[in-house]
Amino acid sequence: MLKYTNFRILTEWSPPFHFTKDARSPELLPCNYYNILNMRRLPILFTSIALALLSCTGEESLDSIARRVYSVADIQMRDIDNRLAPDSYPKTYENGVPKDSDQGWWCSGFYPGTLWLLYEQTGDESYRSLAEKHTLKLSDLPDKITDHDIGFQIASSFGNAYRITADTCWLASLKKGALCLAGRFSPVTGTTKSWNFSRNWDFPVIIDNMMNLEILTMASRLFQLDSLAEIACTHANTTIKNHFRDDFSCFHLVDYDSTDGHIRGKQTVQGYSDDSAWARGQAWALYGYTMMARETAVEQYLHQAEGIADMLLERLPEDGIPYWDFDDPAIPDALRDASAGAIMSSAFAELAGMTASSTRSKAYRQMAERQLRTLASEAYLASPGTNGGFLLKHSVGNIPGGTEIDVPLSYADYYFIEALGRLIE
Ligand code: GLY
Repeated sequence: MLKYTNFRILTEWSPPFHFTKDARSPELLPCNYYNILNMRRLPILFTSIALALLSCTGEESLDSIARRVYSVADIQMRDIDNRLAPDSYPKTYENGVPKDSDQGWWCSGFYPGTLWLLYEQTGDESYRSLAEKHTLKLSDLPDKITDHDIGFQIASSFGNAYRITADTCWLASLKKGALCLAGRFSPVTGTTKSWNFSRNWDFPVIIDNMMNLEILTMASRLFQLDSLAEIACTHANTTIKNHFRDDFSCFHLVDYDSTDGHIRGKQTVQGYSDDSAWARGQAWALYGYTMMARETAVEQYLHQAEGIADMLLERLPEDGIPYWDFDDPAIPDALRDASAGAIMSSAFAELAGMTASSTRSKAYRQMAERQLRTLASEAYLASPGTNGGFLLKHSVGNIPGGTEIDVPLSYADYYFIEALGRLIE
C-alpha cells in the first residue's frame, strides 16, 4: 500500500491568470505574443510590489513564496515544453543556449517529475496533460538503460505519476525499472552497481545510488516482491558501513572487488578531492536515508539521516546553500550549488516530521525553510522568460569533469518544487 505523505492539491489557491498552450499557438504570433507575455507577467509584478511592502513589515509568508514560484513556473515550464523536440528532455542552459538530452541521460525523468509535482500542488490540469505527455515518452526506458540511474528516471516520472493519480497504467514501467535495478545487485558486495564503464574500477558504487532504492521499496510493496526491499536494505546497510566517515560526511565512490567484496578504494569523481565532502553527495545521503527511514521504518536509517543532518547544520553557510564542495579551499569564493541546496531542503523538510527530537525537528524545519527562501530569492530564482525555461540558477554538475558549471539543472528545479510542496503542507 503506497503512502500518500506528499499528496496535496491546493484548492484554496489558483493562478490569477491561466493560459493554456493554445494561447501561445503559432497563429497568434507574433502580434499577440508580447501582450500575452506581458499579461502573464502581471502576477509577478503584483507579487514584487507586495514583496517590497512586506520587506517593511517582516518575512514573506510561505504561501506568498509559493504563489510567486508558481507564477514563474507557469511561464518557464511551458516555455520548455514549447521548445523541446519530441524525443528530448531539458538538461541545462549554457551561454544563452538551452541544452537538451535524449531519454538515456540520467536526468530525463526530472522535467516530467516537476510537472507532476506542480500538478499535485496547484491542481492545474494543464500540468497533468504535460506531465503525462513527457512521462509516456519514457515508457521504453527500462528496456534500454544500463546503469543505476534508472531509479532517478523512473521514480521522478512514473513513481510520481502513480503516487499522485493512483492510475495503474503507470505501474508497468515502474516494475520493469525496479527489476532492472535489482539486476545490478550483487550479494557478494551487498550493493547495487553504479556504472558499467570503468576507470580501473571493478564494482563502483556512488552515494547517489541511495536515491535509487525508492523504486525498489515501492515495487516491493506494490507487487509483493519482498526480495526488492531486501536488496534496498542490504545496499543501505552496506553503504552505512563503507561510505561514511566518523563525522557522517561521505565519500563519493567506493569500489568493491566483485569476487570477494573487499574494498579496492574510496574516492571522488565529482568532488574536490577524495577526502572532501562533495555537497551533492552529502545531499543524496541525507535524502536517501530519510527516504529509507520513511519507506522501511528502520531505526538505523533514521539515526543515519539525523547524523548527516546534524553534520550539515554545523557546516552549511548562513543562507543555507552549500558551496559545491564543503572542503574547497577557495571558500568563500567558491561556487554554490543550488541543486544540493534544493535536495537538502526537501530532505530536511521531510526529516523534520520524522525525528523524535523536538529540538532537531525545529532545527531541520528552520534549515529547510531557510534554504527554500534563499532559492526563491532573486539570487537564485530566474526571471520569467530567462534561464532557458529553468526555475533555478547557479547549480554545479561536475567541476572536475568541466561540465555544467554554474548553470541551471533540471533536478535542482525538481527538488525545489518538492521542497516547496513539503513546506507548505
Ligand atoms: N550522478 C548524479 C549527480 O551528478 O549528482
